[in-house]
Amino acid sequence: MNSSEPPLLLPDRIPTHVAVVMDGNGRWAEQRGLSRSEGHWTALARMFETVEAALTVGVKWLSVFAFSSENWQRSTDEVEGLLGCVTGMAGENADEIVKRGIRFRWCGSPEGLPGTLIDDLHELEKATASGTAINCTLCFNYGGRADIVQAARKAVEAARAGRLDPEDLNEAALARLMLAPDLPDVDLLIRSGGEQRLSNFMLWQCAYAEIAFLPDLWPDVTREHLWQAIADYARRERRFGGAPTTATPR
Ligand code: IPE
Ligand code: IPE
Ligand code: MG
Repeated sequence: MNSSEPPLLLPDRIPTHVAVVMDGNGRWAEQRGLSRSEGHWTALARMFETVEAALTVGVKWLSVFAFSSENWQRSTDEVEGLLGCVTGMAGENADEIVKRGIRFRWCGSPEGLPGTLIDDLHELEKATASGTAINCTLCFNYGGRADIVQAARKAVEAARAGRLDPEDLNEAALARLMLAPDLPDVDLLIRSGGEQRLSNFMLWQCAYAEIAFLPDLWPDVTREHLWQAIADYARRERRFGGAPTTATPR
């Protein structure tokens, strides 16, 4: 594959849902003597490039991890910078997002977020609701465990109210109670920044995800990296617990 071109893939080899942990902004900024917040601003531009690149290949669902429920532990300056990035994105890029046919959604907890930011995110969701090019989910103030816990809490409440027979609680029923119930399972998880961990991202949806760890810091990640990861994904054999198709029967 010439990686400057999008890979040409058979439709059944295109990942339906690609999830991205955009890590490495702080190191990228520090290497250049910039503030960590400046790294986050550069990251935003890369995020839009990634959405475009995914759309070009035919990916229908793209989820990006921009702020975790654990990232509140960072300095007030950095947290404010991150909140500012999203406010800026929702304000300045809204028209472009609508024009591109991107259906934007926010997945995360409102806890701790300014009301104006929550309103902006809901506004953008409304403005892009009819977009059909790609579903782009911004995971902001998001934690995978917290999502599972809130789903479990809803199930317990429904059982207590007599609306759910505990016998009927299975994987599909719990999945319907997640914060974004229509999100398909993640097919391909990409993490930039060199760390090889999930950091509490999409724990439920990543049960059978293929994983690509990129050494590059997120602000250095280009559409070519995304295309290469998708092309590699297309060559993998997914087994879901079955035997390899090439196995010789004994
Ligand atoms: C990812 O980049 C963005 C967030 C976690 C908000 P980092 O800010 O974690 O960058 P590094 O890992 O410190 O370089
Ligand atoms: C994961 O990156 C969260 C986001 C990219 C938003 P972190 O930088 O917070 O993860 P850890 O702390 O290295 O595990
Ligand atoms: Mg990091």
